[in-house]
Amino acid sequence: MEEKEISQAVIGRLPRYFRYLSELKYAGIERVSSQELSDIMKVTASQIRQDFNNFGGFGQQGYGYNVEFLHNEIGKILGLDRTHHLIIIGAGNLGQALANYVNFERRGFLFRGLFDNNSELHGKKIWGIEVQPMENMEVFVKENNIDIAVLTIPKTEAVTVAEQLVEYGIKGIWNFAHVDLNVPENIQVENVHLSDSLMKLSYNISRFESDNTK
Ligand code: NAI
Repeated sequence: MEEKEISQAVIGRLPRYFRYLSELKYAGIERVSSQELSDIMKVTASQIRQDFNNFGGFGQQGYGYNVEFLHNEIGKILGLDRTHHLIIIGAGNLGQALANYVNFERRGFLFRGLFDNNSELHGKKIWGIEVQPMENMEVFVKENNIDIAVLTIPKTEAVTVAEQLVEYGIKGIWNFAHVDLNVPENIQVENVHLSDSLMKLSYNISRFESDNTK
């Protein structure tokens, strides 16, 4: 496939395409047109065609897309054709909730370890995974082919822990701490702010109310 810079907006839409295609695939649907995808996803058909053209286009005009092929191709682009091995740092409320959410496994994200600096949590099992002391982290990361670390620790701790993880060879960080991490360019960071989504919801409620009181 031709290598070119794909915009973050397009990349941001790929997981959604992938999810809808998963549903179509599991419903036994074999073909879908861009118009049908557009109706389900509430994205214009031309937007869908433009997005797919970034990857050489996946379908044939007038014939629609083969659901399984498109699902597999988008999965490959998203790197979901391989298994990722994750550890969670911070076994508090959020860390435990993530460890308990089994559906990540279906997409090939395997939670392998859970670490915390609170000795009272050590040995506790969350979804079969034992919470370990931070001192075990280096060897664990190296011996278990861990490529992603999930940071669910306070922001005051996150920068230092991220630096350690980089040193141990981690490739990506799923960062829930509300702080910008200082990591080299070859380390991928995805910051998650649930509150951003909530603020967007709040904005939409306000906009809807003001539009309907005019
Ligand atoms: P929590 O207090 O329940 O859990 C934090 C855990 O981190 C504790 O078990 C603590 O012992 C551990 N910890 C603290 N320092 C550590 C270190 N240096 N090394 C290893 N473990 C350490 O907090 P909660 O509610 O689980 O939140 C965790 C973090 O996630 C906070 O920074 C919070 O602000 C953030 N958060 C972010 C959200 C988002 O949307 N990005 C949503 C909710 C929480």
